[in-house]
Formats: sequence, C-alpha cells, structure tokens
Amino acid sequence: MGTDRVGLLSRRTMLLSGAGFALPGVACPRPARAGQSYTLVARPAQVPLTGPGQPATAVLAYGASVPGPTLRVRQGEPVSIVVENRLDQDTTVHWHGIRLPIAMDGVPGISQPPIRPGEKFLYEFTPPDAGTFWYHPHANSLQQLGRGLAGALIVEERSPVPVDRERLWTIMDWRLKPDGQIAAGFGNRMEAAMSGRIGNTVTVNGVVPPDEPVRAGERIRLRLLNTALARIMALRFEAHRPVVVAIDGQPCDPHEPASGRLLLAPAMRIDVVLDMQGDPGRRYAVTDDYDDDLEYVLLHLAYAREAPVRPHPDGAPLRLPRNPLPEPDLATADRRELVLQGGMMGGMRGMGSAVWAINGVSMTGDGHAGMAPVTTLELGRSYVLRLRNDTAWLHPMHLHGHSFRILSRNGAPVPHNQWADTVLVAPKETVDVAFVADNPGDWMLHCHVTDHQAAGLMGVLRIEAAARR
Ligand code: C2O
Ligand code: CU
Ligand code: CU
Repeated sequence: MGTDRVGLLSRRTMLLSGAGFALPGVACPRPARAGQSYTLVARPAQVPLTGPGQPATAVLAYGASVPGPTLRVRQGEPVSIVVENRLDQDTTVHWHGIRLPIAMDGVPGISQPPIRPGEKFLYEFTPPDAGTFWYHPHANSLQQLGRGLAGALIVEERSPVPVDRERLWTIMDWRLKPDGQIAAGFGNRMEAAMSGRIGNTVTVNGVVPPDEPVRAGERIRLRLLNTALARIMALRFEAHRPVVVAIDGQPCDPHEPASGRLLLAPAMRIDVVLDMQGDPGRRYAVTDDYDDDLEYVLLHLAYAREAPVRPHPDGAPLRLPRNPLPEPDLATADRRELVLQGGMMGGMRGMGSAVWAINGVSMTGDGHAGMAPVTTLELGRSYVLRLRNDTAWLHPMHLHGHSFRILSRNGAPVPHNQWADTVLVAPKETVDVAFVADNPGDWMLHCHVTDHQAAGLMGVLRIEAAARR
C-alpha cells in the first residue's frame, strides 16, 4: 500500500459534529449511494428475526435491518461513508479486512476518537482489493456486534466473474429467550474463558433461513460471511461440491475444501462457486456439522421444477483476478513469535480481569490508547508471524490493515495459495503466516471470538519507519 494514499486520506479525516452538518443522503433513513457515498445510521430497531408471525426482536442496527445494508463498491475507487451514531453509547466502525490508512480503521483511542451519541464520523478510503469484506463496531463489541451491528462490504472486481448469479449469506448467531428477545449476560466470565457466547438461533441475511431457491444447471457465486460473536461453523452441502475461490476476500487457487466442509470461524469469509447439479424439484440440505453432537440443518437448497438452464456444467475457469497484495520475501523475512495463552485450564493467574494473553500481555476490551505494542515492525519489511496456540481452545486470529499468506500449520505447508486476514488456530497448533509490513500504524491483532478479545486475547502490532525507532 502506497504511503501517499495514506497521507492523502488522513489529511481529509474529520470528526463531524452532530449539529448543522449536511451531506447528500444524511437525512435519508436508508443508505444512499451517490457515486460511492453511503450513510449508515447506527440505532435501535425491531426486526423479525424468527420470521413472520413471531415476535420482533429488539436489536441494534445500521438503518432498520440486520445485517446492515450491503455496501457494494468498486475496487480502486474512493469510498466515503458517513456513520451517524443514534445509539446511547459510543461507537466506531471497523472495515474488516480492508487495507486502509490507520485513521480509517475504526479502533477507538488508537485510530480515532469514539463517535459519541448524536455525532457523525466520515470514513474515507480507497479499497485496493476486490473481495468480500465486512463492517462492524469496534466499541463495546460484545454488545454492539452481538446485538446486530454488522454488514457486508463487497468490493467488486473490475471485470466481473462469469457466473449466472451471485448470492451473499451473512450469517449471525443469536441467543434468544422464548419471547424472542436477546438474552442478557454478555461478557460472562466462564464463557469468556471457554468457547465464548454461542447462541441458539442462527440467521442468514437477518432471518431464520427459509429455503434457498435455485435452478438446475446454474452456476452461483456464493459469498459466505460469519459475523457471529463466537460460533464456528463447518458447512456441508449435500450432494454438491462447492469450489473455494476466495478466502477473506483474497483469491486462492480454486479448490474443493478438505473433507468437503467449509470451515467458517467468526469474521471469516469464503467465496465459493457452486454448480447446481441437483435434480429439478428436489431439496438438498446445507448442514453445519462443526460440532458432531450438535449438527443442524442451516437451510435447504430448493430446486425449481424447470429443466436445467444448461445441459452440462459451465466449464468456464473459476480463478479470480489477483489483488495487488505485496508478496512477502521469505528469504529475508524477519520472524516474530506470538504465543496465545490462557483460558480454562490455561493456568492464567493474577491477571486481573483478563483471562487470555499474547506473549504474557493482555489487552482487554476493544482497543485503547497507551498499550505498549506486542511487537514493533519495520515499515516495508517482510515478516513471518508464528502464531502458537498454547491454549485448549480455538482462536480465529485477526490482523487489522493487512492480509497475510498462510504458510504452514504445524510445519506442514498450506496448499492453494491462501491469503487471509483471520486465521483459525486450533488448540496446541502453530500457524506461520507471512506479510509485508507496508502500512504504518498501530494495528490490532486479536481473536475474533469476541469474548476472548474482550478478555485479553488482543494486542497491537506497531509498524513504523526504522528511523523513528
Ligand atoms: Cu473484525 Cu478488530 O475486527
Ligand atoms: Cu479487522
Ligand atoms: Cu479466541
């Protein structure tokens, strides 16, 4: 990422006060798209999560719906988004996975002041990479993300991929009481030390999913996004063979997933291409069998009765165009080891409210000023980060402001040229990732199981020019 772009954008950064400020679209309750300008209003709302005839659920929403509006923007063209805070608490928006200037990263106290109730903030950036990204608050995340504040941000390729249709499944996980309202108890310490707050109701695009209508013979690009606080999913498509074409927005070598399951931990995205080779009129289950004992059907693909749209599967190649990611130079890369520690049975003692740590240090909450960085990296250098999970739990580890190449797991090379911004690290596993530290700033590195993040599994990677150290 070029530093000139970073400078340009930070000069234009501004905090907008609530009164007297006018921009096209601000008064409008729905997001407006003028060129690439959007408005997002964070506010309480009532939504029919569990379907018609059921009680509406009180949520926090961008606009009037969960997930928030899908923002579709063009690669390499400037985007501006006004966020208006109509909540009763501070908020920010983080553009998860987008390589942008630190001033636009949405971490309160580190990259910007929080947006106070009644205030607005203008986010401006130029997405360098096409792909499936998302946005969510980085303030009181357990409550704000857990009560519905999340949406997809899709950066379109310059030349669209030849498919018949595109679909997006934004998956959310809720813990609902019998009356349909969100259960209290966010930040439960026992859960924070274990697998986090896992819910009892999974929605796709804001509702307990009905059948997904499909047509025999068509080719669909399906974008999967898991915005859950803690639920790790493993999706299996009955009688279908999804081909993974991108992970966390970044194209990979097209491949069928190992064991046929799409492993989708919190914050992760997977783009698959699905050739609809089922029989007209039939239904096929999509199941989440991450937990063998708790396997459930997420939804069914329901085939129309019509004859197939084409006699044979579409033979067009599936490879997506590469994004302009800098290739790390492994021969000269510097190495850093980050050890993930803590949790139930993890032997953390005397750490205050923290349950987890990275290299013995716990940063809690959502990020804040004044924390010494876990490590400092030199701007422009290549690095191999070794993530060593010393705990008995899984952690989807996320780095802001960069995408990294997943090199190996327990020393075994990872195939298919996989890049990501969030990598799932299993208990006792060691994962090596590599990237070029090309984006200056203090970047959060944290587990995206939100309870783990809030209870200490978070730190800052500082990237700065060598002369300043
Ligand atoms: Cu989705 Cu700090 O990130
Ligand atoms: Cu992020
Ligand atoms: Cu974790």
